[in-house]
Amino acid sequence: MALIDKALRVGLLTGGGDCPGLNAAIRAVSKTLMLTCNADIIGIEDGFLGLIEKRVRPLSYQDCSGILATGGTIIGTHNKANPFAYEGKDHSPAVKAYYDQLGLDALVIIGGDGTLSIGYELTKLGMNIVGIPKTIDNDLMCTDRTFGFDTAVSIVTDALDRLRTTGQSHKRIMILETMGRYAGWIALHAGMAGGADTILIPEHPYNIDEVVKSCNARMGSQHYSIVVVAEGAKPVGGQLIVREKIADSPDPLRLGGIGNVLKMQLEERLDAEVRSTALGHIQRGGSPTSYDRIFATNLGRYAANLVAARQFGRAVVMRDNKLSSVTLQKVANKTRLVPRTDRTFLSALSLGISFGDPAIALTDK
Ligand code: F6P
Repeated sequence: MALIDKALRVGLLTGGGDCPGLNAAIRAVSKTLMLTCNADIIGIEDGFLGLIEKRVRPLSYQDCSGILATGGTIIGTHNKANPFAYEGKDHSPAVKAYYDQLGLDALVIIGGDGTLSIGYELTKLGMNIVGIPKTIDNDLMCTDRTFGFDTAVSIVTDALDRLRTTGQSHKRIMILETMGRYAGWIALHAGMAGGADTILIPEHPYNIDEVVKSCNARMGSQHYSIVVVAEGAKPVGGQLIVREKIADSPDPLRLGGIGNVLKMQLEERLDAEVRSTALGHIQRGGSPTSYDRIFATNLGRYAANLVAARQFGRAVVMRDNKLSSVTLQKVANKTRLVPRTDRTFLSALSLGISFGDPAIALTDK
């Protein structure tokens, strides 16, 4: 009698903040595994919270159809449910027991730094995990790109195009604050695409006199100026501006508010009107760009193939435009910042865009 292979049972969750492209990744992982391995896909609701609270539901082929262009995540997400420290308790043994009870052969986790770091810890308990990097922040180690980033940059660029015409009409200095946590990727890329005069990123604390100089120069020549400031930027010797603290989150600090601080700093020093806008969660909402749809799909398919090949404890990455995988350990608990050698950063310097730091403007061209 021929042996009948038991169908693979694969859990799937999305963790941390949502971002455009999550559904494209869910669709790609699920459909690839269903079509190539006849797998059963178990959707875990609201990230790791679903494993803590035992909330899962099977995902059918139909469930994963028609969701490519939809923002958010059809299975929900959560950014506070760290199984190792949720509401003052270590739930990880119960999470492992539930994983066993569900009969899962593998768990695919789609998330950012916090989610993948938790995933790495769960591998130590014997869970078979494959990670897919996502975040609008683009700050994950070992990968040149995360999906969600391209969409966020497009949204911010569109906002800058709009701020330009109103700023130009009123001869104002227009500040736009972006997300990005401790990395300046969104601010740098959107600032470049949107023609900003000054881009302030966390990697280079800004000197306010230098920002004033840049704004004055632009006011003199073009009579308005565009400043992009990342939420994690801070003045030399100054503090990060914290919007709120979230208990139980892998990274409890939520940044935000530097745009208004900068507005006050500039108004004190300049004879010009200054306005500040923060796009906030608009940067994460809505439909993914075509790039993010395709990228998330490719990452999802690659992750499905890792599961089928039983290559666990790994995260899919893209380096030099090629997909591969690295151990979750290599990605866990790290942040990828904008290096001084970054191509876009160097292009900005050579175009005379100010980063509010006289030292880099002089040395890195
Ligand atoms: O990591 C994605 C991100 O949008 C960051 O850019 C931002 O700092 C943070 O999440 C906001 O988190 P929350 O959704 O908890 O306010």
